This record gives sequence, C-alpha cells and structure tokens, in this order.
Amino acid sequence: MLIDGEKRTAIWPDPNGEGVFILDQTRLPHAVANVLLRDLDDAARAIKDMLVRGAPLIGVTAAYGMALALRADQSDSAMRHAAEVLRATRPTAVNLAWALARMTKFLEPMPEEMRRDAAFAFAKHLAEKDIACNEAIGEHGLTLIRAMAEKRGGQPVRILTHCNAGWLATVDWGTATAPIYKAQGAGIPLHVFVDETRPRNQGASLTAFELGQQKVPHTLIVDNAGGHLMQRGEIDMAIVGADRIAANGDACNKIGTYLKALAARDCGLPFYVAAPVSTFDPALAEGRLIPIEERAPEEVTFMPGLAPNGEVISVRIAPKDTPARNPGFDVTPARLVSGIITEKGVFEASTEALAALA
Ligand code: MRU
Repeated sequence: MLIDGEKRTAIWPDPNGEGVFILDQTRLPHAVANVLLRDLDDAARAIKDMLVRGAPLIGVTAAYGMALALRADQSDSAMRHAAEVLRATRPTAVNLAWALARMTKFLEPMPEEMRRDAAFAFAKHLAEKDIACNEAIGEHGLTLIRAMAEKRGGQPVRILTHCNAGWLATVDWGTATAPIYKAQGAGIPLHVFVDETRPRNQGASLTAFELGQQKVPHTLIVDNAGGHLMQRGEIDMAIVGADRIAANGDACNKIGTYLKALAARDCGLPFYVAAPVSTFDPALAEGRLIPIEERAPEEVTFMPGLAPNGEVISVRIAPKDTPARNPGFDVTPARLVSGIITEKGVFEASTEALAALA
C-alpha cells in the first residue's frame, strides 16, 4: 500500500543484509520512521513494545526474529531459545506461535550450517504468503461488499471497523481492509467508519492514517458511537480482524469488538471477521480458552498525542493513583459472527464449517 504515494510494506529485509526494516508504528501518524532490527533482542522488543502489532505482522516479525537469532548462532539450542523469547512477547495473537512453529519445523531437520540463509529465505516466504493470503481475503470480501452495494443502489456502502486490521497490521493489504481496498479498486463507492480504539488508539492513529493515504473516504468515531450509528441506519456492515479464532468460530480481537458485534446483531446488521487461516487455533475448542493479554494500567490513565510544539507527549486523564484494568482483547461469540472471511473463502462461524480449514 502507499505512504505519501510510495509503495510500502510493513516489514522488509534490508537490501544491504544488515537485518530487517519495520515501520515504527508507535510514531504513526505523526512520523514515518523506519527501524532496522539487527538481532533477536531487537525483534522481540519491537513486538513487545508494539513498534509492530497486529496478528499477521507479529507472526512475520517473529519469523524474521528467529532468522536474526540464527545469524549469531545456528544451533538447536539457539533456535529453541529464540522461539521461547519471541513466544513470550505477546500472548493473544496465535500467528506468533504459528510462525515460530513453521520456522522450527522447516529448520530443525536441516544441517546447522545451512540454517542461517534458509531461515531468512523461509521468513521472506512467510511474508510473501501473508500478502497473497490477504489479497485473497480481499477478493472474497469484495463479493460481500459488492452484494451490499447492489442493495444500496449506488449509495456508498458504509462499513464499520475496529482497531487496525489494515495493511499496517500485516505485511500488506490488511485483513479487514483488504476487501475495502479491493472494493475501492473495483469502483464501488464506500465510506469507512473507524473506531478510535482506546486505549492505544490503533483506529485513530493507524487505520485513519492508512485509509487517508489510500484516499478511502472515512470518518473517525469514538468507540462508543458505533451502536448509535447502527441504530440510526448509518452503518451497513462491520468488518473486523482477529487475533485468534477458536475451533467453534469464537473470534478474539481488540477489546471492544464484542460490543460492536452485539450492537450489530441488535440492529440486524452483518458482522464479518476477516482473518487468514494462520489466525485459527483448532486446538482451542472455544473462545473462553484464549489467553487475553492484560496490559499496563497506564495505557488507560494516560493518553498520548501531538503537542502544539510538535512533540509527542503522554498526558494524564484520570486522577493520580486511579486503579485501572486494561484487558487488551475480547471474544466475540460465534453466534454473533455472520461469516469469517479467509483466503480460502467465506466460512460460517461453526465447528463444522471451520473443520475444513484444519
Ligand atoms: O494489540 P494489537 O494492536 O496488536 O491488536 C491488533 C488487533 O486486534 C487487530 O485487529 C488484529 O490483530 C487483526 S490484524 C490484521
């Protein structure tokens, strides 16, 4: 996708072979800053401190992180250590464990001296696969948007999305945004309503940024406005991403997603989850088994933003010492999900339908 008219991906190998570049997402939308990851610690820190975030991108960064670790030491123990360090960075998005398992399975049987180059090549393959999966999600989701466009008789299709499940959360295209970008490419008029997504504001900082860069018409709303707009007939459908989907179709995504799904059901609106097959966790029978990341209370009691002097600062918004809870994700039960848009097609959110993906 584009930043200032230039084609970009969210992660890319350094052409000089020094490591892997990422975009520092903690500085968006105020600054576009590339950061070079040179070793395992850099990669682990980038995931933990959310310089990169979003389930598919976390997975690909972890794969490159393992490749960076093997540059220093190609042994079995180094590989195991790298997998442990990277797996411990964030608990909810299953793509992280998925990518590490894929890397380990590929590299383990190989003679140690071959691992360094092979690991980089395989991480690059996973990155390219992510792009292809997301583009396919876009094509399958396009059929849903096209059907809605027909109902709308030429009026823009109004889509609500939560958090950032855009290209910045993947290598390219995004998951929830891929159908939107495909619809834009197909000339379908649309308008995206972007939940700000407190506490880290991925909607305001990232989704609004990337939609603006791609010239997709959009409006930022506070997290509490979605239900009201749905009741007033100002939303036609919702498309969100996912961090982990249980075998029965319960979908875990950024905190607040569940409330939007409830409102959509009450208003009779379709609520779609877009995710690659790597986001499925067939080992978990239902969503309540998904580990939910508990984040720092300071993310709730403080708010970051751009000061008039151009500096990014954090300001307190609650009385000093206010106790705060900060669960990062919630689970939308399968019964509230109209369909799961994957690279293999659109599936009903049920154990029976999803068994085809295992
Ligand atoms: O905490 P984050 O920013 O990593 O959470 C991201 C989300 O919840 C996304 O919506 C999800 O990972 C889907 S990404 C295509």
